Amino acid sequence: MAAILDQLHTDALDALARASDAAALEAWRIEFLGSKGRLKAAMGAIKDVPPADKPAFGAKLNTIAKAVEDAFTTRKASLGSAAAAPAGPTVDVTEPGLIETRELGRAHIITRVRDELVDVFARMGFSVAEGPELEDDAHNFVKLNIPPGHPAREPIDNFYIDDPAKVPAPRMLRSQTSTVQVRVMEAAVAAGQGTLQTPIKIISPGRVYRPDTVDATHSFMFHQIEGLCIDRHVSMADLKGTLLHFARAYFGPEAEIRLRPTFFPFTEPSAELDLKIRLRPDQPVRWMELGGCGIVHPNVLRASGIDPDTWTGYAFGFGIERLAMGKYAIPDIRMLYANDLRFLRQL
Ligand code: DAH
Repeated sequence: MAAILDQLHTDALDALARASDAAALEAWRIEFLGSKGRLKAAMGAIKDVPPADKPAFGAKLNTIAKAVEDAFTTRKASLGSAAAAPAGPTVDVTEPGLIETRELGRAHIITRVRDELVDVFARMGFSVAEGPELEDDAHNFVKLNIPPGHPAREPIDNFYIDDPAKVPAPRMLRSQTSTVQVRVMEAAVAAGQGTLQTPIKIISPGRVYRPDTVDATHSFMFHQIEGLCIDRHVSMADLKGTLLHFARAYFGPEAEIRLRPTFFPFTEPSAELDLKIRLRPDQPVRWMELGGCGIVHPNVLRASGIDPDTWTGYAFGFGIERLAMGKYAIPDIRMLYANDLRFLRQL
């Protein structure tokens, strides 16, 4: 009879070693320790043991029962902790990151204003044209009806690359984006094999350079946006309507414009464009000078090969800094180029 107990002991330990998960362990528990299990059965068998052997059998059964139960407890603990351990690396997704804020970059205020202006004019049917910043005086002056000897051509007022006294077509940093008018007209005439075939309607934003002494309103480099529209029967009324529409699209429906007669060599008649805007609700409306405009001078059309009897046009040019400073109440142009983040972040 004692051999049965030894067999039970070995069977129990072998099976326990093979039970490798919670389900197998439970099945093992039911087989050996359950109320109808093998240990219970062995206890029931005690009645068949001869009386003389009963004490020894009982003692051995107790020892084995204890050993098997202890083995189960140990096995369960080790399997249990293995099951509780997570499979992969642990990541607490709720924990705040080390970098809690990320600085986002963005375009400079002048770039943004330029893009806004391009958007407004694009919606009015203008396309964008570009021209070189390193120009020659033919495009900067001659073809814009600014003749030799004109005060605007003084070497002291321009960044010449070549000496204008020695070189026939001296190169220079352009002093105005009006140069792009000439380039666009020349290209259109060349595309039409010597005559203009189709209307022109462009804007051209870009950098210009003048050796001005830097102060709150002047800089040696700034930005202009030029406009040119050439078609049949273009009049001052078209110009004024376009500028008013622009002003209201950009500054809001309250904006008003005013054209004051003035003189530019490349337009006739010419006007100074003022804009009436309210910068902030708590401020009075005021007039702000924006730039120049007018009807393209016949000499300018002719210089690029366009027949002024067939075509007429208007042109305009504004300072982008002045516009941005007006719109965002920036008191000093130098703030735009000081790269002070405390300033730039406010815009
Ligand atoms: N180019 C002029 C300047 O820099 C601005 C200007 C005036 C542009 C009249 C124009 C215009 O196109 O028609 O001061």
